[in-house]
Amino acid sequence: MYCVRNITEDLYWVGGNDRRLALFENIHPIPRGVSYNSYLLMDEKTVLFDTVDWSICRQFIENIQSILKGKHLDYMVINHMEPDHAACIEEIILRYPDVKIVCTQKAALFMHQFGFAIDGKIEEVKEGDTMSFGKHLVAFVAAPMVHWPEAMVTFDTYNGVLFAADAFGSFGSLDGKLFNDEMNFDRDWIDDARRYYTNIVGKYGPHVQDLLRKAGTIDIKIICPLHGPVWRNDLGYLLEKYDKWSRYEPEENGVMIVYGTMYGNTEAAASDLATRLVEKGMTNVVMYDVSKTHVSYLISETFKYSHVVLASVTYNLKIYPPMHAYITDMKSLNLQKRTFALIENGSWAPQSGKLMRELLDEMKEMTILENEVSLNSTMKEDDVDLMESLADSIIESMK
Ligand code: FEO
Repeated sequence: MYCVRNITEDLYWVGGNDRRLALFENIHPIPRGVSYNSYLLMDEKTVLFDTVDWSICRQFIENIQSILKGKHLDYMVINHMEPDHAACIEEIILRYPDVKIVCTQKAALFMHQFGFAIDGKIEEVKEGDTMSFGKHLVAFVAAPMVHWPEAMVTFDTYNGVLFAADAFGSFGSLDGKLFNDEMNFDRDWIDDARRYYTNIVGKYGPHVQDLLRKAGTIDIKIICPLHGPVWRNDLGYLLEKYDKWSRYEPEENGVMIVYGTMYGNTEAAASDLATRLVEKGMTNVVMYDVSKTHVSYLISETFKYSHVVLASVTYNLKIYPPMHAYITDMKSLNLQKRTFALIENGSWAPQSGKLMRELLDEMKEMTILENEVSLNSTMKEDDVDLMESLADSIIESMK
């Protein structure tokens, strides 16, 4: 059964949801599922904007058929070639053999690489090109590395709709509600939106900044991303979040404590520090067990908070492996501009603090507080002064 929604009088959402997929990109948990958005414009020409993941292709085809009602599909605009959006290109070609594919040169190259039979079907476009489908005149805007190099976004000058590719998307399935004004985004969606952005596009902050600069020159009324809600009001809320995330500026002055513990002793030290911080008036403190929290959640929270405490046991004379993986991921995603405090633990040769400092030193614009706490097996009365001094340093650095 088809399931579509009207966006404007002649534009339709024809995507779908996958609520059964456990891991997005086979890495990131998506307990709330994910939507794959595709849009169909019914102008003098009929135009499909992107396709969907193979998992929901059947639903997608039914959706398209329900709107086309036997008409031809004239164009398929491909803004992004990652298979979660591009997997059904060949299926569309098989069903609508006369369709023309509008995309960048690099997207066409990727279609060949993925083995799609597209010869004679490509109409290549580049930054600044326009195309008319009847009353709708669209402009193509290059968006390299948001999130792949071939990506572009398409702006409809007739109705102010921006087909935004991966930009402004979110994890989470659309439970009947498509538009941001049909949901409480700040309560129910922002954490998944941040986790999506930071883990998928987070590495490419400068490219997102380029796109935001271009977006600032056009009169956008509706944002149609490839995942998550369609935005038709309060666009400033989302643009501000994207601006902050892509400049690697924290959203909140607060302390995230991430601890790697084997038997609870490092966790106890982390709890001690959290309590001292709260008693000193910093109540915006969150704690995460690095072994029990998927790294995608840790990354998302690290983008959110201004200060991060890393408390790690020493394991095989190295950093505790899940803590090492977390820091490495942070580095891969280009995270910057945070203040760190370190706690190490070890029963005979504690050195995770030194090793974590070395890793953080390789990252951009990171401040690492000098006074760190080194524990032997467990925190004791003798360590209280050091911990108190670390708490004071964190508070001082937040002023
Ligand atoms: Fe949702 Fe980069 O694909």
